[in-house]
Amino acid sequence: MDISILVNLTYIAASILFIVGLKMLGSPDTARQGNLLSASGMLLAVVITLLDQNIIDYRFIAGALLAGGIVGYFAATKVQMTSMPEMVAIFNGFGGIASLLVGSAEYVVSPLNNPALMGAIYLTVLIGGLTFTGSLIAYGKLSEVISGKPFLYKGQQFVNGLLLLTILLVGVNMIFVQGMISPNETLILLISLAFILGILFVIPIGGADMPVVIALLNSFSGLAACAAGFVITNNVLIVAGALVGASGLILTNIMCKAMNRSLANVLFSGFGAVSDSDTERSEEQGEVSPISAQDAYLILEAASSVLIVPGYGMAVAQAQHAVRELGELLEANGAEVKYAIHPVAGRMPGHMNVLLAEANVSYDVLVEPEDVNPIMETVDVCMVIGANDVVNPDAKENEGSPIYGMPIIEVDNSKTVFVLKRSMASGFAGIQNPLFFKSNTRMLFGDAKETVSTLVSEFKG
Ligand code: TAP
Repeated sequence: MDISILVNLTYIAASILFIVGLKMLGSPDTARQGNLLSASGMLLAVVITLLDQNIIDYRFIAGALLAGGIVGYFAATKVQMTSMPEMVAIFNGFGGIASLLVGSAEYVVSPLNNPALMGAIYLTVLIGGLTFTGSLIAYGKLSEVISGKPFLYKGQQFVNGLLLLTILLVGVNMIFVQGMISPNETLILLISLAFILGILFVIPIGGADMPVVIALLNSFSGLAACAAGFVITNNVLIVAGALVGASGLILTNIMCKAMNRSLANVLFSGFGAVSDSDTERSEEQGEVSPISAQDAYLILEAASSVLIVPGYGMAVAQAQHAVRELGELLEANGAEVKYAIHPVAGRMPGHMNVLLAEANVSYDVLVEPEDVNPIMETVDVCMVIGANDVVNPDAKENEGSPIYGMPIIEVDNSKTVFVLKRSMASGFAGIQNPLFFKSNTRMLFGDAKETVSTLVSEFKG
């Protein structure tokens, strides 16, 4: 059989494995198998591509494999669980730069008078480049090396407009005109503009809107790979890139819905908008009421319904196992225990779901915010474990708040709220939380794992 037929048949098989695997990722019960299936599809695609005669020199591939393998191994084994979101962001950026390099290499060796090919190269380099620098900024914001506050300056819209116009003109020169500037200059200019666009695209976006940007960058890395697939006419790269691009767009839509914002609003409200003084609102809102773990235990012991609301602090404290144990003890004590996860809780999509699944919390006890909010008055105790922004009542009460309009888990409507955190520090959005000052709220100060472990010990007597 002609090798190209075999290659394409294998690519079809790999694509089917990707699609079935992705579908299986939709449910926690089948997610592990889905992941394995998609990974097998990728292995199949890689192996058959390596057998293809188009391979120029295996030594380059072996060298790149070794270098990438070493970096990947150390990154994956050394990374703290709490730094996973940053690692995901930076790996996303690596996907972008890989596509950019493929596009650039092809540009250097391709005939320039082929508009379709030049169009594909243009998109590969542009999207790959902006994904790279955008992901680096996202990495900086997630690791809090760069401030989470929107970065705004005078004339921002004008600068952005000029940048987009220049990028468009470079595209016209590259695809249709040829010769306005030399091919080398065109490439260098396009790469530089793509890098600048990535930075300017992410930097104005405020902390609370980062989930949308992360999902969008994820989608961009797929679209860049898809365009690279067209450049090197590799069908499986086109399919895989399109799948990542489409699922990233679906995720972006989910995140927008979770924040009750349109994509345009997230992307462009920061562009040139006047900085919102409310971002730093920290006026005195009264006294908070601290409570000791021992006193909290007495209330929990008498509770017949408990809602656990995890947030980023649970990931920092690595408290998920202790939380599961406490949940089981509460159930054994006769309470109904549920977990409510906000879609943007934590620092990456599905962050809390992953942690609770790791601790073997059953999927059956998870409830959606929109299902639990209407019956919140009937909940005896809400335990807010390291969550802050996702339970901030300002989202429904304070029109000036940067998170105004975002659906929250309305724990303030329950009978008693315990907030487990170390201090009065704000969450990722950098804003004060009036929940802490409400009359039905008790602050359980301390590391979440230590506090929950003390509660577990109290229950065990
Ligand atoms: P946050 O609002 O970020 O609040 C986390 C809280 O955890 C902080 O107030 C912190 O207070 C507390 N904390 C930290 N370490 C702790 C520890 N060891 N023990 C106990 N508490 C600890 O978290 P959230 O409610 O999950 O909201 C997520 C935020 O991140 C949203 O603004 C969201 O938009 C943003 N974001 C989300 C994503 C995705 S995709 N999910 C991506 C980027 C950004 P103390 O320091 O006082 O302890």
